[in-house]
Amino acid sequence: MIRPEQKQQILRWHIYPDANALYERAASAIVRIAHAATSGRGAFHVVLSGGSTPRPLYQRLRTMDAHWPAWHIYFGDERCVPRDNVERNSAMAASAWLNHVPIPATQIYEIPAERGAHAAAQAYAKLLDEVAVFDLVLLGLGEDGHTAGLFPGAGWGDEDGAPATLAVEAAPKPPAQRVTLGARRLGQAREIFVLVTGSVKYNALAAWRAGKDLPVRAIRPAGGVDVLLERSVVETGLVD
Ligand code: 6PG
Repeated sequence: MIRPEQKQQILRWHIYPDANALYERAASAIVRIAHAATSGRGAFHVVLSGGSTPRPLYQRLRTMDAHWPAWHIYFGDERCVPRDNVERNSAMAASAWLNHVPIPATQIYEIPAERGAHAAAQAYAKLLDEVAVFDLVLLGLGEDGHTAGLFPGAGWGDEDGAPATLAVEAAPKPPAQRVTLGARRLGQAREIFVLVTGSVKYNALAAWRAGKDLPVRAIRPAGGVDVLLERSVVETGLVD
């Protein structure tokens, strides 16, 4: 697939001795960013990632002191399974964190993926018209190099004018049907954190670092991307 001319992706690498240290730093940075957003603009708009990596972060966040009523929660991608299915990213975030803090339910914007990928993608794109720039986007990195629901070799929605969301019909990682924000829309953010833990992510990280054509490279916010890594994912000398 031919990609549009790419502007440079600004990357800042942060390496932590272990996953606990990474989650601790990520949680305090998120609360700090939220505090700045709520003090300055009255609201904090954050996009959550799914999968297993962020769960300990979410469990940590629920113990923290924050001005929760000003938080607005979005999801970077969702799996098309019933709403209460444990595979749902929204269900994981709810049980690990959101059910335990006083964020108004009307400010938790789930992707209605139970309606099928196309209908849900359309509905969510409309909802996202209401928010110009996210304060923070959280992302993960799959073993195969995917991020959010953007998979290597598929469309990433990174071109100018690309729709805010994409319906994914044949994801290589089950479930096949997903909804995802496109790379252009994910990049409309003041800050982006990519969290990478576990040595199984080594190859994906090395490919990113080597400049391979991975979806995460197509997310290029003006302020750059902070990559939070557990040391075991990193080979000595890989990150400068
Ligand atoms: C999803 C995701 C996805 C995730 C990576 C990493 O729904 O699958 O949001 O992009 O961030 O797959 O997942 P793990 O943390 O489970 O490795």
